[in-house]
Amino acid sequence: MPTAPLASGRTADVYALAGGRVLRRYRSGGDVRAEAALMRHLHAAGYPVPRVHHADGPDLVLERVAGPTLVEAFVAGDVTLPAMARLLVDLHGRLHALPALRSADPAVRLLHLDLHTENVLLTLAGPVVIDWATAAEGPPALDRAMTALIIAEAAVDPSLPLRAAAGELLSAYVAEAGPLAPVAEAVSRRSGLGPLETARLPEAAALVEATARAGGCR
Ligand SMILES: Nc1ncnc2c1ncn2[C@@H]1O[C@H](COP(=O)(O)OP(=O)(O)O)[C@@H](O)[C@H]1O
Ligand SMILES: [Mg+2]
Repeated sequence: MPTAPLASGRTADVYALAGGRVLRRYRSGGDVRAEAALMRHLHAAGYPVPRVHHADGPDLVLERVAGPTLVEAFVAGDVTLPAMARLLVDLHGRLHALPALRSADPAVRLLHLDLHTENVLLTLAGPVVIDWATAAEGPPALDRAMTALIIAEAAVDPSLPLRAAAGELLSAYVAEAGPLAPVAEAVSRRSGLGPLETARLPEAAALVEATARAGGCR
């Protein structure tokens, strides 16, 4: 096992392995089987996700995706806010065009529910979506509301240097995304976060609603 992670997110540490692979390990245990099965399904359906090599307990061995996260590419000046918004909208649209696995109701689709700028990696061959832990089946409008809320959380975080950019991204995303589910539904799914994040949810939800009322940036 390598000692220093290549990257760490909210729930997992990611270690480089030989052969162009990474080990993604949940810090507090868990079972990645359902996540791995969905990623394999999406890969077979042509949706851009890392190839899954192995899944066991809290460990996923994935193809190593070469490229920055969307937010890193923005900080480096390689992508604009309107382009980021369009990319998130496009990735949602492609996902929601696929049939659900369990439900036969055509209104119920595969949802990522955590599609934000740190869960998209940009490669020369195009964007790749990672971090499918929260994926579920449901109405696409809920997936869009989740993304809007997550961006809004960044926009109301006073400790975040990128908060103004997040506000602009929210406007651009909401203008392009299509109808959002009631924000309260997204809030209830985000309330298992830490106390600081949970405390910011009402302000973030109000910002999503105000931005949607204003019609995004159009
Ligand atoms: N397949 C991969 N190839 C390269 N880097 C990855 C890969 N999967 C994850 N990462 C890196 O690890 C970080 C955390 O992974 P992620 O799956 O988003 O876990 P978390 O649930 O902790 O957010 C990502 O932001 C990215 O920088
Ligand atoms: Mg992540």
